[in-house]
Amino acid sequence: MDNFTFYAPTYFAFGRDTEQDTGKYVRRFGGSKVLVHFGGGSVVRSGLLDRVKKSLEGEGIAYVELGGVKPNPRSGLVYEGIELCRREGVDFVLAVGGGSTIDSAKAIAAGAVYDGDFWDYYQGKLVEHALPLGTVLTIAAAGSEGSPDSVITHENGMFKRGATGEGLRPKFTILNPALTQTLPPYQTACGVTDIMAHLYERYLTNTTDVECTDRMIEALMLTMINEAPKVMADPNDYQARANILWAGMMAHNNSCGVGRSQDWASHDIEHELSAVYDCAHGAGLAVVMPAVFTYNMQHNVMRFAQAAVRVWGCEMDFAHPERTAKAGIEALRSFLISIGMPKNFAELGAKEEDIEKMAHSACHGDARTGSIGGFVSLNQQDVENIYRLML
Ligand code: NZQ
Ligand code: ZN
Repeated sequence: MDNFTFYAPTYFAFGRDTEQDTGKYVRRFGGSKVLVHFGGGSVVRSGLLDRVKKSLEGEGIAYVELGGVKPNPRSGLVYEGIELCRREGVDFVLAVGGGSTIDSAKAIAAGAVYDGDFWDYYQGKLVEHALPLGTVLTIAAAGSEGSPDSVITHENGMFKRGATGEGLRPKFTILNPALTQTLPPYQTACGVTDIMAHLYERYLTNTTDVECTDRMIEALMLTMINEAPKVMADPNDYQARANILWAGMMAHNNSCGVGRSQDWASHDIEHELSAVYDCAHGAGLAVVMPAVFTYNMQHNVMRFAQAAVRVWGCEMDFAHPERTAKAGIEALRSFLISIGMPKNFAELGAKEEDIEKMAHSACHGDARTGSIGGFVSLNQQDVENIYRLML
């Protein structure tokens, strides 16, 4: 295990009706004038936005609203939010929605107290300062509710890039599993896939002797494999929703990723797809992951075989461990298909003729230096080969 520091000071309130206390938490963490940020309308339709506003009013907290965040959130609305915060003297940003809304809120929170262009942060500058931020989450997926990360697409070039820094960690997050019961099945499945991806990105490590975090990741994967079919069968299964919601947070606040190298090739390769085709991040990952893992398998067959045996219940073939490794990748693929995820370029709406452009953007576009991936270093040719495995 490598040396590490870990500081994840988000305050979590979990359970039914916890959104009623939003105002109290905003006050506790110093907010007096709030930007309430939300997406395309699900929180309006469900009545959540009204409940949150009532809770702010109950504490005498003033607020301004900015809705309209799209999945794969864009830079345009971020610039608008930064302007609004400055004009209105906002001192706290509250995201009510999914990962896209939270990421847009994080970008606004960072940009509002920065003299330069907020996009500097998405080209590698660490976010040390931002307005304090809270979240009321409505989908188990991105893990942004507990992460120091944000992913935005810049409309100038359609580059989808991430920023990171302790300034972006939410001060508080409200997790009410019942809020996720209104999700369409497809979005639920996209979220499940993203959570599995966050676990695999950490599992694929070159660091040895990481038994504790290996076992934590495996436990979270097993939880997802067990609980996902329950919510696909019954969207109102509160307990299964609850387990998935907490697993999604644990998968990405990095408690199971410390002290080990991580991969993130699947994410970088997927972000090109969701930037170009505007597909859901989870759907893109469902197509990308089996291809990346198949391409990288020979780098460490035993790591894939370990996942196959411990997570997917495959028999260990000691004479041919690569067969076990492959069986684990196939089990992942079948699981993703079973919850309704696409399996290839065609089902995703992606096109062969864009492969070279996407591979170039992943490796050389906006602030990239020629290769991606922490498990296996992949150059543009490798990434093109991987995209071709998805045809
Ligand atoms: O916009 P609304 O109307 O709210 O609808 C959303 C959206 O259409 C809908 N939805 C969310 N909660 C709902 C609901 N519909 C009904 N009932 C509910 N309770 O679901 C759709 C997807 O929402 P979105 O916020 O886009 O989903 P998700 O949480 O998967 O976020 C995806 C974004 O997060 C980024 C992805 O790249 C993508 O842009 N990521 C962010 C990360 C981070 N900040 O740490 C890490 C991830 O790896 C990921 O890259
Ligand atoms: Zn993700």
